[in-house]
Amino acid sequence: MRNEELGVMSYELIRDAAVKMALHCGEIQLASFRTNNIGIDTKSNVYDVVTKVDKACEDYLLSEISRLYPTHSVIGEETGQHLHADSEWAWVVDPLDGTNSYSQGLPVFCVSIGVTYKGECVVGVVYAPYLDELYTAVKGEGAWFGKAGEVSDTTRLHVSQKESLKECVVASGFPYDKATHPINNIREVSIVIPQVRGFRRMGSAAYDLCCTAMGTIDAYWEFNLNLWDVCAGQLIVREAGGQVIPLCDNRKISIIAGPETLVKELRDKLRIMN
Ligand code: IPD
Ligand code: CA
Ligand code: CA
Repeated sequence: MRNEELGVMSYELIRDAAVKMALHCGEIQLASFRTNNIGIDTKSNVYDVVTKVDKACEDYLLSEISRLYPTHSVIGEETGQHLHADSEWAWVVDPLDGTNSYSQGLPVFCVSIGVTYKGECVVGVVYAPYLDELYTAVKGEGAWFGKAGEVSDTTRLHVSQKESLKECVVASGFPYDKATHPINNIREVSIVIPQVRGFRRMGSAAYDLCCTAMGTIDAYWEFNLNLWDVCAGQLIVREAGGQVIPLCDNRKISIIAGPETLVKELRDKLRIMN
């Protein structure tokens, strides 16, 4: 079925619903930011933190998605899979991406909502509330940047036009099992840093991908991500004219993102797959 024939399930209406949910998550996040009321806890190990705010945002997203779209599946970082076996739709949500920074009082954190139809991401929404930065994409309609109060006044995103990594500022991150897994990105980062203008570790994979779509980060790579980290952001990069390719196939979702030329140059430097 084509998007126009989906009626109330059109990608644009789903995007608008996802934007409202993302903005509300932003309010939940800001209400507790830099307070001593975030209820921090650890998950897989001491480096992997979660707060009451992650859970509150996911609870809100689950209830809102099931209220508006009761037949849709939901995959959420904090509560796992809520599957409707015969649904063609799935919402893939990271209720708070950048929890480590959030728990420290650092400003780069966001909510990420990707919506898939027949297994393909067709809507992506990422909102970073402290920065008031809203990134959206609908499959085939480009990627867009705006502010919460000005949802109709958006700017189209384009990936970086740079052609050589030497001139680039690139971003990456480190997996939570960095202390025990040999592919922990330390070797790769030490290869890349001397060959680029700048390196940033912003602490949110979804935000890294949005910056890559905007060209404020020229290219990005990371190992061992989960679907909720990248579902929305990957669509936003692709709709901004960028490429997202796999980096290796034995570390969950591992990707390189950016304009085609820089992705190729990074892939050659990282030399993982080729
Ligand atoms: C993490 C962030 C971080 C990335 C980690 C992710 P979380 O997500 O996106 O930048 O390096 O791999 O798990 O735990 O803050 O949702
Ligand atoms: Ca995440
Ligand atoms: Ca998270």
